[in-house]
Amino acid sequence: MEKILVTGGAGFIGSNFIIYMLKQYENILIVNLDALTYCGNLENLSEVEDDPRYHFVKGSVTDSVLLEQLFIEYEFDKVVNFAAESHVDRAILNPNIFIETNVLGTAALLAAARQSWEKDSVYLPGVKFVQISTDEVYGSLGATGFFLETTPLDPHSPYSASKASADLLVKSYFDTYQMPINITRCSNNYGPYQFPEKLIPLMINNCLNHRSLPVYGDGLQVRDWLYVTDHCKAIDMVLNEGIPGEVYNIGGHNERTNIVIVKTIIEYISKVKDSEVTEQLITHVGDRKGHDRRYGVDPTKIKDALGWFPETSFDDGITRTIDWYLENYDWVKRITSGEYEQYYEHNYTNR
Ligand code: NAD
Ligand code: DAU
Repeated sequence: MEKILVTGGAGFIGSNFIIYMLKQYENILIVNLDALTYCGNLENLSEVEDDPRYHFVKGSVTDSVLLEQLFIEYEFDKVVNFAAESHVDRAILNPNIFIETNVLGTAALLAAARQSWEKDSVYLPGVKFVQISTDEVYGSLGATGFFLETTPLDPHSPYSASKASADLLVKSYFDTYQMPINITRCSNNYGPYQFPEKLIPLMINNCLNHRSLPVYGDGLQVRDWLYVTDHCKAIDMVLNEGIPGEVYNIGGHNERTNIVIVKTIIEYISKVKDSEVTEQLITHVGDRKGHDRRYGVDPTKIKDALGWFPETSFDDGITRTIDWYLENYDWVKRITSGEYEQYYEHNYTNR
């Protein structure tokens, strides 16, 4: 049986990944280590909580003692590191926690994996450490071109700088200790269970509350959207078939401006749910500090090397996502019942 440590598995992509992997493979054990911060929610995993192939451990990736104990207890074959502070606006308000979790947490995890896996400078067979990184480490594009794996790192926010730092640490474990690692750099994900601080679920939630829709600056920034299950499929392929030491970009060439995304959400909700949701709710607010103008990922390498391709078109994925939020509005209310309003006030008042 393959034993996989998934960190940050109670968040958006991590929970989708655990559900995906348990459906995909009979003979695995997944241990989910999650600190359950404001955006971690065990409810996301309710459909697998009684599955004997799934164990949950509450704790932090920065806790080296706990990590050592877990590696001894479970003898993991693989690690997939999702655990992170993931929201750019929060990084602008409070960068330090991003350094702690994203940089020091990754460092602690790498050290624990090496201690468990390396015997006399040789790694146990079949082990692999996959770092879930982001296209944001490459910085911002002009009107043309795409991020390649060879594009120099040029992060602009404390979030993307912390992710780039973690990437360099992971790479150093390959270069120095030959640890079998991969780094994945995916574009913007969307789908079920995304915390409503991020563009798409925030706009859906605000539409349902008839709250204004805060578009940063001119709204012409471009993001490259990928349905979350397509990201999970790519991570599975990299975990099992990725060549040690390699970086893989993941994206589906689905570039949209933010304003187009917001208008798409308004149009759909107004049609299926509430005709009072109109473009009048759109409010252009002050721009994000250091705002990257355009992201666009070239996924040729993962397509050619591993045969990955995205299965969900944007039109299909966005309606499925909005439908999910409409059907699971109680989840939205519960997950935003903590410090969310305080954060919202802090981030959106007087922009
Ligand atoms: P998320 O914010 O929804 O979830 C993060 C999870 O990590 C939460 O469950 C949280 O409780 C947990 N966590 C935070 N600090 C922790 C700690 N110290 N120890 C253990 N767990 C901790 O994030 P997400 O959107 O699911 O992103 C997951 C990963 O994917 C991140 O590394 C992010 O950088 C990367 N990524 C995200 C996107 C995207 O569009 N969301 C795209 C590319 C890459
Ligand atoms: O590209 C991958 C990254 O995508 C991940 O690494 C990050 O974890 C994830 O949060 C996401 O980062 P972005 O900054 O692109 O996502 P966000 O949803 O915060 O914003 C998307 C765009 O929408 C961005 O240009 C800012 C804009 N925006 C966002 C919010 C929350 C608004 O105009 N208004 C808003 O209220």
